[in-house]
Amino acid sequence: MTGPAGFIPPYPPRPVDRLPMFETMRRFRRSMLEVWRARHFEDPFFVTKFFRRQVAVCNSPEIVREAFIDLAGPLERKSPQMRQALRPLLGDGLFISEGALWRARRRAVAPVTHASRMPALAPVMTEVAAEFATRWQALPDGAEIDVLAEMAEMTAEVIGRTLFGREVGQRAALTVVDAFSAYQAHVGQTSLASMAGLPDWLPGLPKPRLLLASWRIRRVLDGLIAAALAQAGGAEASLVRAMQDGQVMSRAALRNEAATLFMAGHETTANTLAWAWYLLSQVPEAAARVTAEARSALGGRPAGLGDLRSLRFTQAVIEETLRLYPPVPVLAREATTEITLAGRRLPRGTLVLVVPWLLHRNPKLWPEPDTFRPERFLEGTPPRYGYIPFSIGPRVCSGQQFGLTEAVLCLATLAQHVRLELRPGHVVEPVSRLTLRPGATLPMQVYQRDAA
Ligand code: HEM
Repeated sequence: MTGPAGFIPPYPPRPVDRLPMFETMRRFRRSMLEVWRARHFEDPFFVTKFFRRQVAVCNSPEIVREAFIDLAGPLERKSPQMRQALRPLLGDGLFISEGALWRARRRAVAPVTHASRMPALAPVMTEVAAEFATRWQALPDGAEIDVLAEMAEMTAEVIGRTLFGREVGQRAALTVVDAFSAYQAHVGQTSLASMAGLPDWLPGLPKPRLLLASWRIRRVLDGLIAAALAQAGGAEASLVRAMQDGQVMSRAALRNEAATLFMAGHETTANTLAWAWYLLSQVPEAAARVTAEARSALGGRPAGLGDLRSLRFTQAVIEETLRLYPPVPVLAREATTEITLAGRRLPRGTLVLVVPWLLHRNPKLWPEPDTFRPERFLEGTPPRYGYIPFSIGPRVCSGQQFGLTEAVLCLATLAQHVRLELRPGHVVEPVSRLTLRPGATLPMQVYQRDAA
């Protein structure tokens, strides 16, 4: 869609009238994006009921701040849906743990991907981006690739090599991705019952296959961790080794945190990059500007950490992509006590949702909210607590700097050589189960920039 003011990328239809409960369930099962009515995008706060559970949705910067900062204590617990979907995979990993355990793990895990560690980690990103640039440059003009799969492979290589060290990680990424995909294929259906407040032992849930897939992941990770730790004299830097420095972490804890970092750090960045390629393909002027900026900053070499300040437009493209298609579009918490939020008393067990998908398209916060316009991030700073692709508060994404750096370096490195076009006739449809993706695949054609 191209409106008078620019390109409006696709979003699911927004029903005007209230949906019947079963229709809400049907849509929610297909994608978390399809249940929101038009008015929800500008409502600052609303409370609804999903079977036995109260659901409160926060959609203004003030109320988002109140929920995730002022009420961070009673709203520390992730939703039952999230915990149930991820526990077999992550065990007691940081992403879904709480209380004293979460605090201890956060202290061990967050520093290893902190901004101050980027000088040690960014060279891996540069190296992987360069390998993909070589691979794409070898393609004939018009060759078709699945950009979603390519980006998933690229980010898996980055997180694999940083987690386990270059040598072990290099061959590990695809094995872990395979094991994770098998898990994800079975995870979707377990979630609605617990969301509705029903017990999670309902018959018919595909537990055995899920458990088998998670057992496979644990086995793969155990092998990789052992290999990473066995690297002669610790010469190879790795996040696994860094997490152990100065901490006593059991093998199981280390494995759960490695699984957490792999899961949290791989698909999110891959989806961001895939969406960015799609958006650029629809706005050739923006794509040309990224290429020109990258060429002027890099002159053909791959991008490194020191180039970030010269890649401001590329970064704005990533920021605008994260606004329109936040990889984690719904942040859900379960109240562990009775709370007062936005002046409403809500019982223990209430599900509190902060929904970047709504907040980032709230017309009260963003002019032309559905339009792709990266320049908005060059012209001013986004509304405080109104732009939260990495969440906010104590549970904010600890890999924010890692993900942003990786996305900008990879996009700039590749965009100086190629442009991508969507396969003619392919319809892109945003869908979200755990993360927000441009469909199951994203077929695009590669054209070399010099030849164009
Ligand atoms: C564009 C990329 C990324 C996005 C948009 C993103 C987004 C998020 C969001 C929204 C959360 C909070 C989820 C919730 O509250 O339910 C989160 C948590 C987390 N992320 Fe990221 N993330 C990205 C990349 C990464 C990377 C690269 C890493 C690690 C290398 C990472 C590690 C984590 C961890 C460990 C948590 C759990 C933090 C905690 O609960 O204390 N993320 N991320």
